[in-house]
Amino acid sequence: MSGVSRSHNIAVLPGDGIGPEVTDAALQVLTEAAEAEGFGLEFSTYCIGGSALDRFDVPLPSTTRAACEAADAVLLGAIGDPRWDHETGSRRCEAALLELRRHLGVFANLRPVQVYEDLAVRSPVKSGRIAATDILIVRELTGGVYFGTPRGVTHANGLRTGVNTMAYCEDEVARIARVAFGWARRRRFHVTSVDKANVLEVSQLWRTVVDEVHAREFPDVSLTHLYVDNAAMQLVLQPDAFDVLLTGNLFGDILSDLVAALPGSLGVLPSASLGASVGLFEPVHGSAPGIAGRGRANPVGAILSVAMMLDTLGEGTAAARIRSGVADAFRAGVMTADLGGTASTTDVGAAVCRFAFGLGSANMQAAGYGI
Ligand code: NAD
Ligand code: IPM
Ligand code: MN
Repeated sequence: MSGVSRSHNIAVLPGDGIGPEVTDAALQVLTEAAEAEGFGLEFSTYCIGGSALDRFDVPLPSTTRAACEAADAVLLGAIGDPRWDHETGSRRCEAALLELRRHLGVFANLRPVQVYEDLAVRSPVKSGRIAATDILIVRELTGGVYFGTPRGVTHANGLRTGVNTMAYCEDEVARIARVAFGWARRRRFHVTSVDKANVLEVSQLWRTVVDEVHAREFPDVSLTHLYVDNAAMQLVLQPDAFDVLLTGNLFGDILSDLVAALPGSLGVLPSASLGASVGLFEPVHGSAPGIAGRGRANPVGAILSVAMMLDTLGEGTAAARIRSGVADAFRAGVMTADLGGTASTTDVGAAVCRFAFGLGSANMQAAGYGI
């Protein structure tokens, strides 16, 4: 393919809090990647979350939704603004993100967790225990208790009752299980499926369907089932026992923040949400209102999300250079305060660009994300 024939149209949703700051750094890296690797790039920015409530009085304006549908990929910073926390139902910032995920049909949320060598020594967990960590969390993203009905708060006999419903239909379980087993074949051939089948019927069906898909389609991959409470402990005690971790929407949300303690900060974890034609790429962290607007946010999760985006767009070389640039920036000690460093958000973005596309970098790391 010649350089000029490749062009990618990205819808950018900076969102709230630290979202715009980390998105700026990620876009700087993306722009330099395009220049260095000779592909075209167009991007336009749209509102979501609190910033959209401010301007349009809805958290997911139709212009944003239409732009995402028409794009080759979507880059999202973070949503969530304490000024709008009093909202309920579909007016919540978080509801906009859930609606967008569902609308785009991105049922598979991939959250890779690695502990860079230069972070292992600074981790709150003993470095010897975590250095070999290389986990891919495959989280079901468009079902489960996040979307089940009935839901809401009812009033009866002077008492309020809150209700949510955790439901999975077998086809939803089977399709996410196939994604996890497929990834295991590209990695170390092991899947750990995490559920609460000792208590919940929804988890008993989950386990049965995962077993069926395994036996029928992926007998070459090894499979272990863990209850979520035990899984939480094992992820800290022996993270290197995990390869692909398959789980539902709620457990995946919780366990991915837990595992972020291994590299030492939620700020370094990226994600890709895939399933239909347009992928949604966003760091795992939220809008971190406590540090917003101060140039202190760690942009690495957003930058590595851009790398995952480039993999799915067929720009694997650019993605590998970005990953390598991040490793080199850490090696050079360029880190934000959450990791114990003194660098600003823009310092980290600039260092990644310099190592990835400027001065030349040493260790190319291939990964390649796409389903
Ligand atoms: P959070 O992820 O925003 O922050 C958790 C902790 O991690 C805080 O101490 C924060 O300062 C720190 N942190 C997070 N990202 C960081 C980064 N890049 N650099 C340095 N430190 C970082 O979670 P929260 O405080 O529970 O939620 C805040 C808001 O974000 C809420 O409105 C929540 O709904 C929303 N949220 C949005 C997303 C998303 O947009 N994908 C994800 C999670 C939470
Ligand atoms: C995440 C976030 C979201 C989730 C919220 C903001 C809706 O915590 O992406 O991890 O729970 O999925
Ligand atoms: Mn979360």
